Amino acid sequence: MTKRILVCLTGASGAIYGVRLIEKLKSVGHEVHLIVSRWGEETLAHETSSSREDLGKIADFIYDEMDLTAGPASGSFHLDAMAIVPCSMKTLAGIAHGYADNLVARAADCTLKERRPLVIVPRETPLNLIHIRNMETVTEAGAIILPASPAFWHKPKNIDELVDSIVDRIIPHLGLSKTEIEWKGDI
Ligand SMILES: Cc1cc2nc3c(=O)[nH]c(=O)nc-3n(C[C@H](O)[C@H](O)[C@H](O)COP(=O)(O)O)c2cc1C
Repeated sequence: MTKRILVCLTGASGAIYGVRLIEKLKSVGHEVHLIVSRWGEETLAHETSSSREDLGKIADFIYDEMDLTAGPASGSFHLDAMAIVPCSMKTLAGIAHGYADNLVARAADCTLKERRPLVIVPRETPLNLIHIRNMETVTEAGAIILPASPAFWHKPKNIDELVDSIVDRIIPHLGLSKTEIEWKGDI
């Protein structure tokens, strides 16, 4: 069954994880709603060959990060799940403290209050105590923290296989069954 998934790319390193997630969701017909933050655009351009415009052509809907009139700013706008991939420490902080000053933080606020799945993929190292406490806070509020720390046990042959080892972990936490999307085994 088609699900409506909101994918957000923020200004942490690891834009490729978000790109791959969008591609996988679209490859099996899910409806992808997309927000790319201002700094997400920068990291996307810096790290990949894709731009916000390119991703907008793959996604079904794309929103401006500052458009708080857009659907995802309201809990009554139906979404099945939300993923922030990659998630910066700044966006994590905003979510942890209910500081919804842009559409990513506001949509996450709504996702949590509506008790829908929210997957946060942070990319920062090392972590300070503020980062750790913010991760604890959002976890207590119902979010899933799924760090961008790829596995090596499956002997990845290239970056794509490393990236997939994270993206394939995100998908089930969005409430999508393993069988819907090519599954490479429990990691
Ligand atoms: C090239 C580049 C790489 C960055 N990498 C990270 C990162 O890995 N993790 C992080 O938390 N912030 C990182 N930042 C800083 C964030 O982009 C910055 O805190 C920004 O305000 C995040 O805003 P956003 O969450 O609204 O996208 C990076 C910035 C740049 C320019």
